[in-house]
Amino acid sequence: MKKDLRFEGRVALVTGAGNGLGRAHALLLAARGAQLVVNDLGGGAHGGGRSSVAADAVAAQIRTAGGQAVANHDSVSDGDRIVQCALDHFGRIDIVINNAGILRDTSFQKMSEEDWEQIQRVHLYGSYKVTHAAWPHLREQGYGRVLMTSSAAGIYGNFGQANYAAAKLGLVGLASSLALEGRSKNVLVNVIAPVAGSRLTETILPPQLIAALKPELVSPLAAWLCHEDCKENGSLFEVGAGYVGKLRWERSHGHCFAPGRELRPETLAQRWAEITDFSHSTHPSSVAESLSQAIENMGAAPRDGEASSISTPPPAAS
Ligand code: NAI
Repeated sequence: MKKDLRFEGRVALVTGAGNGLGRAHALLLAARGAQLVVNDLGGGAHGGGRSSVAADAVAAQIRTAGGQAVANHDSVSDGDRIVQCALDHFGRIDIVINNAGILRDTSFQKMSEEDWEQIQRVHLYGSYKVTHAAWPHLREQGYGRVLMTSSAAGIYGNFGQANYAAAKLGLVGLASSLALEGRSKNVLVNVIAPVAGSRLTETILPPQLIAALKPELVSPLAAWLCHEDCKENGSLFEVGAGYVGKLRWERSHGHCFAPGRELRPETLAQRWAEITDFSHSTHPSSVAESLSQAIENMGAAPRDGEASSISTPPPAAS
């Protein structure tokens, strides 16, 4: 059997660690030797109020079990203060798990500016603020692991969660870029899209499912992605109920139209089945790979017969 993955000497900051997934992440990392900053604002599920109770309880639980933890009650939108707390108490920061979250679900039609703003502020801006404050320390020491918490709602969209979905997929873009900027300094950045029973899901999932979807079935992936042995970088995982899988982009083979020739909407309509056919798909994983087809096509000579093969319908009679 492989040796246990341990975190001695590592300082981990978990945001929103007073409840649900963050709590489970913090308890697992602490049980494996990490020193923990247990951050939680202690507000309600929709972002109102604040309390020190949740973070204090988790930090106390860790200390009672023989671990090391400090509670922090700042909002993630004051991420620099949370990172400073890690530096003040433990002298360093190695692992950042951006997990804090709220919901303000409503249909787009009814969504207020406040519903939009609060969600962006906690999920996207909060993850930016915490990570940005930790970033120079991680780079300077040549070691760091950062985790973002996305959601299936962000990846696939979800009715009534346009604000949340936008923020959650924003985190994937943030992580993909940070993965490139941190790589040379051994600062690796990944994303999880979890599913777990928690106060955020208890109103939408049936009780049996809530009981089965234990946060403890998500935390082992978070811990592995934050361990120094793990070299995964810039990746996105779906995880929950014991399932773990990796996602990537898939692009249809598509069609290259002859450069220098007029491209009309009608031409696209005519080729639509081919453009959207995934039977010869590719999986671009960088901007360079993404642009390669277009760049290749720019230099391509017009193919024989292409003009005649794309017979464009005549403009509609006015
Ligand atoms: P939870 O409500 O049990 O825990 C979230 C914690 O974040 C709470 O303790 C809350 O006080 C804290 N928090 C909220 N705003 C904060 C702020 N501004 N600063 C610091 N702490 C703050 O929720 P759960 O389910 O554990 O969610 C954790 C993360 O996982 C969230 O980002 C959520 O969007 C994400 N997620 C959860 C899913 C699930 O199935 N539970 C599904 C997909 C994503």
